[in-house]
Amino acid sequence: KRHLLSAADLSRDDAELVLTTADEMRSLADRPIKKLPALRGRTVVNLFFEDSTRTRISFEAAAKRLSADVINFSAKGSSLSKGESLKDTALTLEAMGADAVVVRHGSSGAPHLLAHSGWVRSSVVNAGDGTHEHPTQALLDAFTMWKHLGESKPSGLEGRKIAIVGDVLHSRVARSNALLLRTLGAEVTLVAPPTLLPVGIEGWPVETSYDLDSVLPKADAVMMLRVQRERMHGGFFPTAREYSRRYGLDGKRMAMLQDHTIVMHPGPMVRGMEITADVADSDRSVIVEQVTNGVAVRMAVLYLLLGGSEPSIGETE
Ligand code: CP
Repeated sequence: KRHLLSAADLSRDDAELVLTTADEMRSLADRPIKKLPALRGRTVVNLFFEDSTRTRISFEAAAKRLSADVINFSAKGSSLSKGESLKDTALTLEAMGADAVVVRHGSSGAPHLLAHSGWVRSSVVNAGDGTHEHPTQALLDAFTMWKHLGESKPSGLEGRKIAIVGDVLHSRVARSNALLLRTLGAEVTLVAPPTLLPVGIEGWPVETSYDLDSVLPKADAVMMLRVQRERMHGGFFPTAREYSRRYGLDGKRMAMLQDHTIVMHPGPMVRGMEITADVADSDRSVIVEQVTNGVAVRMAVLYLLLGGSEPSIGETE
């Protein structure tokens, strides 16, 4: 059995295999018939306990382009409101013959619980769990960097300088990117106010900085993170105005970047808070392309997990 629960599940060979497979999948998009028969007869369940636009839609598109059957479950409108547990929800999916369960949950560790509980036999893919991890987001981000920084192979990310800026404390995207980019040999700097860096950051394979203006001129890619107000219960956090002034990416700061440097954001973004509209819509912004690449990367992940033929990726049991 194989799962993708954490970016840490991926060795360098695994990560490069996903990226090169995604590159092949992306070339499909240019063909008149975009579908492959690879997963015909397999069932992918999107199990979303937390809201999503990009991840849910792109997993659905990815599964359909591989000819899998797709079942979409969202917490809203389900029997969770009647008190049904994760276990009984999982047993219901198992009874319907799911081959892969793509799970997003507000609780960190929920996909691990599903994968290791024995409730389901299917592969489990973490589509974002609490403030913990979002491995396929990190893969699509690395894919976008690889393609935009003009390298012929994913190994070209070695030594590239990546700045990840903002609410690291609540960001599963930051953690997965830090782990994956390190695996690929890139140098990551996390930039945030002190109260938006997590306890234990010293153990992460990254540099940290409180000073955005000193980091920007050296970066090859700048990834802005959303300020997750909905996860801020108490604590000492900057006001929106203070945050934008010190950590927001506006036109003036964008002018500090090297010519080749790209601006990224995993979405959803709050225009005017962490990024201004003119930067988000500028030529440097690859935000929309990140979404396009998400489909190819998720096709690669589903194909490698479910395709049935070696090589495989991720955690094995
Ligand atoms: N980047 C991302 O995970 O977006 P969604 O929450 O819309 O899926």
